[in-house]
Amino acid sequence: MDESGLRKEIIALTRKLAALRKPQPFVPGKSKIPYAGRIYDGDELEALVDSSLDFWLTTGRYAAEFEESFAKSFGTKYCALTNSGSSANLLALSSLTGNMLGEKKLKPGDKVITCATGFPTTLNPIFQNGMIPVFVDAELGTYNAKPEAIEEAAEKEGVRAIMLAHTLGNPFDLDVVMKAAKKHGLYVIEDCCDALGAKFDGKPVGTFGHVATVSFYPAHHMTMGEGGAVMTSNPIYKKLIESFRDWGRDCWCPPGHDNTCTRRFGWKLGELPYGYDHKYVYSNIGYNLKVTDMQAAIGVAQLKKLPGFIRKRKENFEILLKAAKEHEEFFILPKMHPKAEPSPFGFPLTVRKGAPFGKNEIVEHLESKGIATRMLFAGNLIRHPAYIGQKYDVLGTLENADTVMRDTFWLGVYPGLTDGMLGYISAEMDSFIKGRKK
Ligand SMILES: Cc1ncc(COP(=O)(O)O)c(C=O)c1O
Repeated sequence: MDESGLRKEIIALTRKLAALRKPQPFVPGKSKIPYAGRIYDGDELEALVDSSLDFWLTTGRYAAEFEESFAKSFGTKYCALTNSGSSANLLALSSLTGNMLGEKKLKPGDKVITCATGFPTTLNPIFQNGMIPVFVDAELGTYNAKPEAIEEAAEKEGVRAIMLAHTLGNPFDLDVVMKAAKKHGLYVIEDCCDALGAKFDGKPVGTFGHVATVSFYPAHHMTMGEGGAVMTSNPIYKKLIESFRDWGRDCWCPPGHDNTCTRRFGWKLGELPYGYDHKYVYSNIGYNLKVTDMQAAIGVAQLKKLPGFIRKRKENFEILLKAAKEHEEFFILPKMHPKAEPSPFGFPLTVRKGAPFGKNEIVEHLESKGIATRMLFAGNLIRHPAYIGQKYDVLGTLENADTVMRDTFWLGVYPGLTDGMLGYISAEMDSFIKGRKK
């Protein structure tokens, strides 16, 4: 048999194996209910095996296909794959320090507005680029940066950018952010790692700011195992993003290709001699944050299922919301901006002051019943050991960030949750609360 015949046979066997992997039946009280997980079948396994048989390994045909289709589905012109959402954030901010931007480039010492609650790698690129975060407090309910605090922070001297996540898939107030950015000439970086598919005023999040990011870690709306991407519609940012991702090079040939510019030995750049091989000319202080083609192959298969994944997340969120409404006297329920159409990553609840139980008690109860819970990531970021002694500004008191750290948790809404699991979660919440009511 020739190679193509063997490949077909291997793929047919792969699909056969995938078909054996059925979800285990849910047994209330015995089965674990994860907060998130990979949803896949023979399509993903086939793509993964197919790309591994290519043995191209680095960024290749699947990555090219993914970048093109993902940009379209996201609503931007360009997508650059990276090896994680954290790398995407690092790349997004770093690319705006590129020399191609001239006077407009971001520099060490510039200030960047960000939210005090959230995931550390929305914040870390600010420190990693020698810039200074300006922390604003979050709103309870949306867990996004307070709009009035953003407006106030944008007035501060030295502020050059706003870098914020759409928390747990709930869009932040893009009217206020974009207005402040326009008024003060600030860059906007939208961290959409938890918000793929969310909309604001009918338009996808990630298409408002200059640059946007997503994560493809297994907990997210779709996965590649590890992975992420940076999106933009601006060709200059695109060039910078690719350069910073690919070692800082000036050349834009895909891996394994030469002379895309047709002048490989015809450039005179920097203080290099004329004709120095363009493949090895560096115009930025870059990284290597590329993905493998195996990751991209999984992404190609997952992307086709994304609309269904998002739909199911929304349905699961509504079911949990209905159940939690019964206990509104004890919980701050999720809120959203009237123009926001979330694509939920999780279902957040904040235990109200005066409730007959604390967050730790309800979380411990749910965990003891096999129901996974999560904190709102870092809670108040500045309370973590990593940031003590670092240089940053704070606007106001961050009292809500402290409340989030103390009283907020979230439940999963991922597409693997069945009605049986969701019913069990509601029943366990009800029985815990009934036992605590005076
Ligand atoms: C808002 C936000 N940004 C960035 C990241 C980082 O993504 P990754 O885990 O792919 O590095 C996460 C991770 O969950 C996140 O929640």
